[in-house]
Amino acid sequence: MIQKQKGCNDIKGYEAKVWKYVEAVIDATMEKYNYNYIRTPLFEATELFHRGIGESTDIVTKETYDFEDRGGRKITLRPEGTAGVVRSYIEDKMYGDPTQPVKVYYNGTMYRYERPQSGRDRELTQFGMEVLGSDDPLSDAEVISLAVNIYKMLGLKEIKVNINSLGDAESRNNYREALINYFKPRIGELCEDCQSRLEKNPLRILDCKVDSEHELLKNAPKTIDYLNDESKERFDSVKEYLDILGVNYEVNPNIVRGLDYYNHTVFEIEAKVEGFGSNNVLGGGGRYNGLVGQLDGPDTPCIGFASGIGRLVKALELEKVKMPLVLDIDLFLMYVNEDEKKYAAYLSQELRMAGFIVDTEYVGRGLKAQFKQADRLNAKYIAVLNSEDLNNNEIKIKNNRTKEEETISLDALIYYLDEKLNASDEYDDCTCSDLECNCGGDCCHDECEHEHCSCGHHHE
Ligand code: HAM
Repeated sequence: MIQKQKGCNDIKGYEAKVWKYVEAVIDATMEKYNYNYIRTPLFEATELFHRGIGESTDIVTKETYDFEDRGGRKITLRPEGTAGVVRSYIEDKMYGDPTQPVKVYYNGTMYRYERPQSGRDRELTQFGMEVLGSDDPLSDAEVISLAVNIYKMLGLKEIKVNINSLGDAESRNNYREALINYFKPRIGELCEDCQSRLEKNPLRILDCKVDSEHELLKNAPKTIDYLNDESKERFDSVKEYLDILGVNYEVNPNIVRGLDYYNHTVFEIEAKVEGFGSNNVLGGGGRYNGLVGQLDGPDTPCIGFASGIGRLVKALELEKVKMPLVLDIDLFLMYVNEDEKKYAAYLSQELRMAGFIVDTEYVGRGLKAQFKQADRLNAKYIAVLNSEDLNNNEIKIKNNRTKEEETISLDALIYYLDEKLNASDEYDDCTCSDLECNCGGDCCHDECEHEHCSCGHHHE
């Protein structure tokens, strides 16, 4: 039997419904912030990631899937989305577009050759957004708040936002010097990788997975103490906008991020729900003002964020967030003979095109087994097509929960189902709006005893 590759997952069944819902909320929220969807290739020239993410990062030194294609080109499966977006921005000269900044979002698979464990896969799915062409601290704060609001819209409550600043080039250089001076006398106590990082890129020592618990790392100099006045001022302005946008955050000087392209604001959002395990960072991002220039484009200030959907789905499960998933079908159509089957084929198509979720029998089950199948599919209504009824232009339709059965005219079937199934429209008229729900909108709440509100969220 051929098995899936290590660190890869099949997303299916109930979990697939959760994923689709999560992705729909991401799309809807990104739209509200006026971000355009972008889809870049799954593979790019190896050079893009080496020059973009940084030669000394763990991702580039150990984790990329590299291969030569049949034409002898050096290719890498994308380990993250930012480099591809920046490549596209430069290649398509999007910097010339008068509607700067360019605000884009993506959602797709990335590949990292990591040691698979809970929350760390080799094929992972990330959604992310990038703002290219704005240096305004408001755009930093807005990217952070957009990330937080996506989690909130999904109903996550137990999250923590950690922010930090790496400062501008001058601040980063001063900090780099301080780190070298600090680590040099005791570098022998750290792993081999860290020893080679010391001169190449000492910042990377701080996010070493091997030495993360070492006392030397814990007491290392903090970026914040090396920011020049301009960088400090900028960071203060980002914090002010975060306050205006109502984002709760903590300044955490330990956030340095694992990719080389960052400067100024960096941030990570953690899941705080119990039982998550050690890979609890839902997403991270930051400003990368040098990257477009480094990849041969014009100097362009940028900021972005990405989040692993697998980790997000796990957080939703652990927080037991209720989601408006469609787990039931509206109608299961049953039949016995060939003529009835043909009518079932015709009718299911008509009803589907009218907007109902309809299924029927495909593997030759007898009538008794078809009833069982209808239950397995959580059919709200069932109908046994019967030639005699059909000849009279009638159908017997049964509520599969109350077991009440009615015979109705076939011509009235769509109206009948619409009335029965959309009876919950009464919730749309709900007017109570004084309590807050997790979508942040005006909708119904506990007091109404309604389960669903017009925003499509489920409220207890
Ligand atoms: P990153 O921190 O490497 O940043 O990844 C972002 C998120 O992707 C992580 O917080 C995590 O949720 C998820 N992730 C990463 N690796 C794995 C893995 N092996 N298995 C499961 N999930 C994983 C970036 O990728 C940057 N491109 C973010 C960014 C966008 N910065 C600016 N713009």
